[in-house]
Amino acid sequence: MRREVTVVCRCNDVTREDILKAIEMGIDDFELLRKYLRLGFGPCQGRSCVMIAARIFARAKGKSVEEVLSNYRVRPPIVPVPAKYFARGLKP
Ligand code: FES
Repeated sequence: MRREVTVVCRCNDVTREDILKAIEMGIDDFELLRKYLRLGFGPCQGRSCVMIAARIFARAKGKSVEEVLSNYRVRPPIVPVPAKYFARGLKP
C-alpha cells in the first residue's frame, strides 16, 4: 500500500507530516519551526514553501496566518546580484 506524502518544501524535502510531527513535539512558534525544519532556507528562499507551511501551522494551532507570520522577516540581499556571479565565483 502506497502512503501519500505531501511535500511542502522541495528544496529541503520537508513534508506536511514533518511539520505536524514538529508541532506535536511542542514547537509552538513559526520561526522556531522554520529554523528546525530549515523551511525557507533553500535556493528558492521560501518562495514556494513558507506560505504553505504557515497555513498548515496556523490551522494546527487555531491561529490566523497573519498572526503566525507576524515575526517572519524576509532578508533579501541588499542589492540584486546576477546569478552568473554565483555560478562562476566572480565578484560583482
Ligand atoms: S521550497 Fe522551501 S526553501 Fe525552497
